[in-house]
Amino acid sequence: MTRMPNSLAARDIAYHLHPYTDAAKHEADGPLILTSGKGIHVFDENGKSYVEGLSGLWCVSLGFGEERLVEAAAKQMRKLPYYHTFAHKTSDVTVELAERLIKMAPVPMSHAFFCNSGSEANDTVVKMVWYYSNALGRPNKKKIISRIKGYHGVTVASASLTGLPNNHRDFDLPIANIMHTECPHHYRFGKPGESEEDFATRMAESLEAMIQREGPDTVAAFIAEPVMGAGGVIVPPKTYFEKIQPILRKHDILFIADEVICGFGRTGNMFGTETYKLQPDIITVAKQLSSAYLPISAVMINKKVYDVIRDNSGKIGTFGHGYTYSGHPVSAAVAIETLKIYEERNLLAQIRDVAPVFQKELRRFADHPLVGECRGVGLVGAIEMVKNKKTKESFDPKQAVGAHCIGRAQEHGLIVRTLGDSVAFCPPLIITKDQVVDMFARFEKALEETAAHVKANGLQAA
Ligand SMILES: Cc1ncc(COP(=O)(O)O)c(C=O)c1O
Repeated sequence: MTRMPNSLAARDIAYHLHPYTDAAKHEADGPLILTSGKGIHVFDENGKSYVEGLSGLWCVSLGFGEERLVEAAAKQMRKLPYYHTFAHKTSDVTVELAERLIKMAPVPMSHAFFCNSGSEANDTVVKMVWYYSNALGRPNKKKIISRIKGYHGVTVASASLTGLPNNHRDFDLPIANIMHTECPHHYRFGKPGESEEDFATRMAESLEAMIQREGPDTVAAFIAEPVMGAGGVIVPPKTYFEKIQPILRKHDILFIADEVICGFGRTGNMFGTETYKLQPDIITVAKQLSSAYLPISAVMINKKVYDVIRDNSGKIGTFGHGYTYSGHPVSAAVAIETLKIYEERNLLAQIRDVAPVFQKELRRFADHPLVGECRGVGLVGAIEMVKNKKTKESFDPKQAVGAHCIGRAQEHGLIVRTLGDSVAFCPPLIITKDQVVDMFARFEKALEETAAHVKANGLQAA
């Protein structure tokens, strides 16, 4: 592609190393440069508009251009643009946000610890769990079990929790004491004829076998997203968490719910914890906490965990962990405003009204010859394309069928993300029914063009 040497695209290629991007391909293809947004739409440098079908990265819940959030940030910037929370200091808005979070938590929680991203929150959790075990005089109880295809971030410990190969490969991860149990994706890993319930039993038995193999005295915690996001939008099979949780309790293993995507309405309840009746000891939230207008995340811990951390920090003289921007007042002010908007506009009612249309539209592709599975809950879902609908065989990743499909979608003014050959949908929570229909109509064009591409190149089984 030719481009002006001083264009934004050329400068981006020259100076910017992108996250989650093939840098070599980027030099050839260049970036898509977005310059503004309004509601569920974003606009590129040429003025072309796109439906943001993934809310950015599963985060811009209130859409683009929410003036109240802009105002909340500006007001706080003028009043107190920065203060920290080390050594007994805090700001008024940080106190208010902590209280709000603890009071709205889906299960009794005691205290909130602030960070800046989902990764930092989960990294903090790993350290808290180790601190907790040491404080209790259980130095061997340190292992944390995560799940294959789980996504918990990219910092050293959180990337270790993440169960996706590209987050480990050539990074020398995972670190010690982190292991991955099976992925509870019934469509992919269920045996022929196995019911969701039987599959869930098998997943729970497999987890228990791992705990026994490792030694229950060495396993400190289990972490799970209520709905696995970046692993492919994997909704738990029926009775999964019902069967997992007693095993954790039996072996005195802390349960960490990573609500970074599910938190604040995505699954049709305020938290995925409610949707799947979880009883976590620790909950991490980020993304929709501030509608992504500013970076902020939080770790909520229950009294059992808090009391141990309190006593141990009392013994040592500090809880030696925290970030310059933990509880940043501008981020906190924006988060408070976001939570107020959720409440005042009764966003949950709006989500519950729109979700059935979203799920119906998503599932109308189930019979398409290229589609293996349509799955989702609330306002999140995925459509998985397969080489062979009967055997569920996947395409060779080198054929990049998913990437082709989202490329076509982009042409039709829809930004979505491909996770393998699954196309994920996670629009802003403010999306209307008509906009849902429009979003899937754009996807339909992309899917048909992908089907034609697959056929023309002989990629699908006869
Ligand atoms: C469930 C979950 N946990 C953690 C993270 C990491 O968050 P961040 O990218 O803010 O570090 C993500 C990001 O997508 C996520 O989906």
